[in-house]
Amino acid sequence: MSGPWSQRRVLVAGGAGYIGSHAVRALRALGVDVVVFDSLVTGHGQALPPDVPLVQGDVRDAAAVARALQLGPFDAAMHFAARALVGESVQKPDLYWDVNVEGTRTLARGLSDAGTRAVVFSSTAAVYGDQGSAPLHEGLERRPTNPYGESKAAAEDVLRRTQGLEVAALRYFNAAGAHPAGDLGEDHHPETHLVPLAVAAALGRRPALTLFGADWPTRDGTCVRDYIHVADLIDAHLAALDRLLTGGGGGVWNLGTETGSTVREVLEAVGRAAGTPVPVMPGARRAGDPAALVASAKKAADELGWTARRDLDAIVQDAVRWHRGHPTGYGER
Ligand code: NAD
Ligand code: UFG
Repeated sequence: MSGPWSQRRVLVAGGAGYIGSHAVRALRALGVDVVVFDSLVTGHGQALPPDVPLVQGDVRDAAAVARALQLGPFDAAMHFAARALVGESVQKPDLYWDVNVEGTRTLARGLSDAGTRAVVFSSTAAVYGDQGSAPLHEGLERRPTNPYGESKAAAEDVLRRTQGLEVAALRYFNAAGAHPAGDLGEDHHPETHLVPLAVAAALGRRPALTLFGADWPTRDGTCVRDYIHVADLIDAHLAALDRLLTGGGGGVWNLGTETGSTVREVLEAVGRAAGTPVPVMPGARRAGDPAALVASAKKAADELGWTARRDLDAIVQDAVRWHRGHPTGYGER
C-alpha cells in the first residue's frame, strides 16, 4: 500500500450497508478521512463509527449528492449504494434501474464536476449470467439473467463513459462472513442470502433452510457458488484504490476465490461452526439461479496483487460469531 493514507479523503456512498461499513472501518484504520453518503434505506447508522460524518441522502438526488461533495474535496469515492436483491429486482425492475443506473449517473456527474477522479465501484458476478461451470473471466461477454445484473452492467458502462473518472469495477462473487472483531456483520431485511439464513436456522432463530433444488447438474445436485469473505473483498478495494490513486488506471476485476462450494457444502460448514446441524427442507429451484458461478481471480492477482486469503470455514465461523452476538442484527427494527 503506497501513499500517505492519512492525507486522503474518501467519500463512501452506501457506507452504512453490509460491505460498505467494513470498507469504512478499514479506511479509518489506515487513517483515511471518511465521509459516508447513504439514504439508510437498507443500511444501519449503528454500523458507522460515531465520529464519521454521515450525509443522509439518495444517490438519485443531485442536490443531496452536491451536499455530500461539499464536505470534500475528495481524492476518491467508493460506490456501494444500490438495491442488491436478485429476487426483488424481478418484482421491481424499474426501481433497480432507477437506483442502480440513474443513481450511479447522478453520483458520477457530481464526482466528475467536483474533480474527484478515482471511483471504486461494487459490481457483481450477476453480470455474467449462466455461462457454464468453467471459471468466469473478465473477458467474457456480459449476459445477465435478471434486472439486478442488467442494472449493474449498465452502471459499469455509465461510470466508464463519464468524462474525467477512472473506475475500478469490482465484480464480487458471493460476499459472506463478518468482521473478525464480531461487531460488524450482515443484517439485510428481508434476508435472502444463504449463509446468514443457514446460520440463523442452525442457531434455532429461523425455520429450516429451504434447499432451492437438489437436481442441478453439479457434484451433489445443489448450486455451486464462490463464497468470498467480506474482509478479503475490502482488502481488494484498498488495492484497487491504491492503483487508481497512483496512476495505475481503471479496469474490471473479479473478486472471488476460484473455489466453488455447493449449497450442501456450505450447510455442512455452517453446522461445524455452529456446533449444531442446519435443519433443511427440500424446495424447488429458485427462478434465475445459475447452476454454477465461480470466479477466475487471475486478473486481480496479476494487476491488483490481491488474492483472497480466507476459506469457507473462516467465512462461516465469523458469520456465526456475528449472529451469536447480535440475535436481532443491529436491532433497530
Ligand atoms: P446493503 O443493502 O447492505 O448496502 C447498500 C447500502 O446502500 C445501504 O447502506 C443502503 O442504505 C444504501 N443505499 C441503497 N440505495 C440507496 C440510495 N438510493 N441512495 C443512497 N444510499 C442507498 O448491500 P451490500 O450487500 O452491502 O452490497 C453493497 C454493494 O455490493 C451493492 O452495490 C451490491 O450490488 C454489491 N454486491 C453485493 C453482493 C453481496 O453478496 N452482498 C454481491 C455482489 C455485489
Ligand atoms: N439458496 C438456497 N436456499 C436459500 C437461499 C439460497 O438454497 O434459502 C441457494 C441459492 O439457490 C444459491 C445459493 O444458495 O444457489 C446462494 O444464494 P444467495 O441468495 O446467497 O446468493 P446468490 O448467488 O443468489 O447471489 C449473490 C448476491 C448477488 C451476486 C451473486 C454473485 O446476492 O448480488 O451472489 O454470485 F450477484
